[in-house]
Amino acid sequence: MCGIVGYVGVRPCLPVLVAGLRRLEYRGYDSAGVALVDPNSALQTAKKAGKLQVLVDELEANPLQDAVTGIAHTRWATHGPPNDINAHPHLADDGKLALIHNGIIENDRELAAELEKEGIRCVSDTDTEVAAHLVAKAYRETGDLTEALRQTVLRLRGAFTLLVTHQDHPGLVVGARRNSPLVVGLGEGENFLASDVAAFVEHTRTALSIGQDQVVTITPEGVTVTTFDGTPVEPETFTVDWDASAAEKGGWGSFMAKEISEQPEAVANTLRGRLTEDGTVTLPELDVLRERDIRRVVFVACGTAAYAAMIGAYALEKFAKIPASVELSHEFRYREPLVDSHTLVVSVSQSGETMDTLMAVRHAAENGAATVAICNTQGATIPRESDATIYTHAGPEVAVASTKAFTAQVVACYLLALYLAAEAADSSVKERVEISTALLAAPDQMSEMLGVGERIAEMAKWMADTHSVLYLGRHVGFPVALEGALKLKELAYIHAEGFAAGELKHGPIALIEPGQIVFVVVPSPRDPASLHAKVVSNIQEIRARGARVIAIAERGDAAVLPFADEVIAVPPAHPFVEPLLAVIPLHLFGMELAMAKGLDVDQPRNLAKSVTVE
Ligand code: F6R
Repeated sequence: MCGIVGYVGVRPCLPVLVAGLRRLEYRGYDSAGVALVDPNSALQTAKKAGKLQVLVDELEANPLQDAVTGIAHTRWATHGPPNDINAHPHLADDGKLALIHNGIIENDRELAAELEKEGIRCVSDTDTEVAAHLVAKAYRETGDLTEALRQTVLRLRGAFTLLVTHQDHPGLVVGARRNSPLVVGLGEGENFLASDVAAFVEHTRTALSIGQDQVVTITPEGVTVTTFDGTPVEPETFTVDWDASAAEKGGWGSFMAKEISEQPEAVANTLRGRLTEDGTVTLPELDVLRERDIRRVVFVACGTAAYAAMIGAYALEKFAKIPASVELSHEFRYREPLVDSHTLVVSVSQSGETMDTLMAVRHAAENGAATVAICNTQGATIPRESDATIYTHAGPEVAVASTKAFTAQVVACYLLALYLAAEAADSSVKERVEISTALLAAPDQMSEMLGVGERIAEMAKWMADTHSVLYLGRHVGFPVALEGALKLKELAYIHAEGFAAGELKHGPIALIEPGQIVFVVVPSPRDPASLHAKVVSNIQEIRARGARVIAIAERGDAAVLPFADEVIAVPPAHPFVEPLLAVIPLHLFGMELAMAKGLDVDQPRNLAKSVTVE
């Protein structure tokens, strides 16, 4: 979704703003623009549809004068096509004020009609432009930019982060946020505003998170935060727990390749200092739950995070003996779910900004549920609004499609399950020790799994013309199948479906025809629930109908060999560690197939990294 950067300080800010936008490119966008204010010049803007490079080329061809205050934006089109006019910043009618926006202003049409009656016409198709005109109008009345923005936001419905800058106020940028992210970077004699710390982390790791319905004013000397009604707020400071190099490719061909390879480290970081082999979990952040009598857990999440949550729900019931379910956040919120003070609603979100999930969390809290966030992004909205947060500490995930966040989320769910298990009378200590020991060994096994990369790349080459791929799994292998299918859709634009293998005979088997490629996530032959034999029968059924079977199976599993065209071997592991291993070849496959088709694996078409609109 849109990326936002603002700067006030002493150095020429254009390079700072453009570098900030580059670091936000991963969010997905289709146009970019900047506005600069300086005592020695009038307000200057440049904006272009297309990739950031188009804007950079334009700025080289038609340079702007140096300035020490500015705002910059990457737009992900919602209202009106991606063209130069609809790109941000938007100027007010007097040409002195520039505004950028992330989110959706829902009452833009009625505000535009009102402005039109006063002779102010919008020139773009966007929902944003009305806000520029309204702030300028309020500024003409008050002479105070912060107050003008405050008055304007009270008139807006929907979700927004807004930044404004005004020709009369070099050295000042004002921002506001509702339901959309905004963080401040605190520098020496300079300050930053951005939708994400990535935009300024190379300059400062000290940050402030701006809360819901707050207005922030930055100058080179300081930062002032108030609520929309003007009450002063003491914002929370935090230190970003990664540095700029973590958000760089570091010699890898793509962020996707880098992040897939970082999965062992991501999982080790999620576990670090929190789990011992005897099953003891240290998560002081969850102490707030001690007062609650939790009788049910509902996970809310979207996409890949929801698949991680599905595995989490299995773990909750297995280890903590608490009924657990998963719901897509956007379905949960609108079906009037029954939650009460005995319900724990666990949101799983890499970005911590997914609007659907945020709305689900709010709904849960309003209905008395306890809320825990599993999140990868410090200062994000969902952790801010939850009772407690388990940070995954997976490091910045830049590629749009999630990979290392998935495995880290699964492990964070396990930690939650084991934490709650310690309180559960009927939980088995032996089982907890087994899974804990296995989890601590998982990063090394995941590193071993990464060794399949070359083989997967070879397979992807001969499959580049494939039109459809199916994925099957059972128990914790089922969400892995869903995740494998989603990665192939997103990255390689190939139709792919994941199924619970047991569901095959209830319909999907009709899809099997000679040559159909089917990945099967096979549980260990040592699996106590005898699922292995059932999955091997499923393989036989599809093989008998001509499918090409690629089995992801435990090393030495002789039962699958006669029926599989290819076997990707997984080291023997605890059943709850298997998903962390089996997903790696599927992530690699999605990436390699996309590369074989010549596609951009980091920024697939139509997708945004952080979905901040419902
Ligand atoms: C898939 C993917 C998405 C996200 C989903 C939720 O590769 O990245 O499906 O998992 O949009 O995002 P977060 O985790 O940020 O809430």
